[in-house]
Amino acid sequence: MNLDLFPCESPTAHSEAIGPCAYVLRGFALPNAEVLVAAIGELERRAPFRHMTTPGGFAMSAALTNCGRLGWTTDRRGYRYTTNDPETGLPWPAMPEMFTRLAHDAATQAGFADFTPDACLINRYESGARMSLHQDKNERDFAAPIVSVSLGMPAIFLFGGHARSDKAARIPLLHGDVVVWGGEDRLRYHGVLPLKDKPHPLLGSRRINFTFRKAG
Ligand code: SIN
Ligand code: FE2
Repeated sequence: MNLDLFPCESPTAHSEAIGPCAYVLRGFALPNAEVLVAAIGELERRAPFRHMTTPGGFAMSAALTNCGRLGWTTDRRGYRYTTNDPETGLPWPAMPEMFTRLAHDAATQAGFADFTPDACLINRYESGARMSLHQDKNERDFAAPIVSVSLGMPAIFLFGGHARSDKAARIPLLHGDVVVWGGEDRLRYHGVLPLKDKPHPLLGSRRINFTFRKAG
């Protein structure tokens, strides 16, 4: 896969480069935070958070759900995107218009024009939950970036290289921060260190992360 085929443009100001095509937009989602949190309440009534099992048989420590036309799932058979929630059999809830706009605007700010996500994976972390190093590679095409929005408790985001063993940068992410990675950085390994318990006024001892993808 030659990711250099997908060059990235220069981002606008107010972005912190963590790679040639990867940026942290500090506080970018802050104006939307309360509406995002309210939307989660509605989404989780229709598609509850659950601890999915990895192909290796481990329960993920973060609970997850999805909205959008496609949702990411894992079980003993592997990782994949589905149109329906395997738990309820129903289509994943539609992606609220505001989510799509936020992801599009963050991508634009980071130099990726015309990003239209069709999948939003929502991870809920409680104290001690983590996400081990992995690549986001179940999407059909890697030309579109990943847009990741963090709410609630702070986390240390690990941003590694193209091999699992590459040393990963440790990037503190706070409520409202958005990370965008694409182009030659699209397949970099990333993860989250076990969360410390630092309760947040809006979400208590929880961190919610949305990753917006173009999956199909
Ligand atoms: C993910 O890689 O799916 C989640 C990243 C995060 O929680 O910040
Ligand atoms: Fe990921």
